Amino acid sequence: MNNTKTSDLPLFGAETETSEIKTTDRRKMREPFGRIDSDELLREKLLPHCRLKSGEKWVDPVSGHIVGVADVVDKNQVGKIIDNFRPTLCVADPPYNVIVGARNTKALSQLSMKDYDEFTKAWLDTVLSSMGENSSFYVWFGADMKNGMHPIPEFCIEMRRRKEWVARNWITVRNQRGYGTQKNWMWVRQELLYYIKGDVSFNIEAEYTDIPKILRGYHKVVGGKRTENLERSKSDTIRAGNVWVDIQQVFYRLKENVPGCYAQKPFKSIERIVRAGSNHGDYVLDPFSHSGTTLVACEALKRRCIAFDIDPIFAEISIRRLERLRSTGLLGWQCENPFPEIS
Ligand SMILES: C[S@@+](CC[C@H](N)C(=O)[O-])C[C@H]1O[C@@H](n2cnc3c(N)ncnc32)[C@H](O)[C@@H]1O
Repeated sequence: MNNTKTSDLPLFGAETETSEIKTTDRRKMREPFGRIDSDELLREKLLPHCRLKSGEKWVDPVSGHIVGVADVVDKNQVGKIIDNFRPTLCVADPPYNVIVGARNTKALSQLSMKDYDEFTKAWLDTVLSSMGENSSFYVWFGADMKNGMHPIPEFCIEMRRRKEWVARNWITVRNQRGYGTQKNWMWVRQELLYYIKGDVSFNIEAEYTDIPKILRGYHKVVGGKRTENLERSKSDTIRAGNVWVDIQQVFYRLKENVPGCYAQKPFKSIERIVRAGSNHGDYVLDPFSHSGTTLVACEALKRRCIAFDIDPIFAEISIRRLERLRSTGLLGWQCENPFPEIS
């Protein structure tokens, strides 16, 4: 539900970017195709242009990133991709178990709650067992109101059983645009849970936003001089804290947009996680790569990424996004076609 790009959201008459843009303007800026996962004809055209098949991996000759095609619950496939590397940070963005845009597809389907919880346990087993001794683990979630906020409570209880992993924080990302009705609070949130194992580093500079501090209101006398709280601050800008309000959701007008990717996370959010939770040269794992946001954040920050996706088309898009970043400095395609060979 909440990991959808705005172009995929149903319009409930709420505050949405799409409703603000004139139709003629939208026509000029059209994505070359819709959701890749659910359009079988499009998939047939794209698959021959994908360099990896299920179980295969690509090793980046420039920075040593690894991109693979694997089912996250298949220990064998995942083991081959991760090899003996021990990532110290994992950024996981699994399907949220909600039907997006009324399309139930293999990669983004709605399972029964029980089956989804089994899937969660299985991928936690493969992913967490491959992490280094001292590691951080971030996982994105949405809550399904129709099913008692599933899967967040179940996930938290499952993690509580894994004693070596300690809950460290619960971050909420406040989307700028949301959706809802006139009878309920508008849904504008995404959840990001943060766990650690062992002794991990946290790079505090990653937390500072560009938002200036504006609230005065109290003072202290220092050395006989009255000083306002703002004068005594370590920084002029506020820390992100665990409610992030400075992240723009991805939609087709943004330069970082990757057409066909229905659940792309904003670069700024993943960059913040990677910056805070890892250091130069570290291995960072993303078991649900999709548009390759973690991969390009790792490239920008000089970390090494191990990213995989069950879908060879998303693995290919991830590699192409890295190559595009290197050749053009751009983070995405906006409305250009990532597969020019089929246009
Ligand atoms: C929510 S998206 C991840 C979005 C990503 N963070 C980004 O910024 O582009 C989830 C991805 O998980 C992939 N996926 C679904 N089931 C999977 C599985 N069993 N193993 C690996 N990947 C899977 C889907 O194909 C989809 O691309």
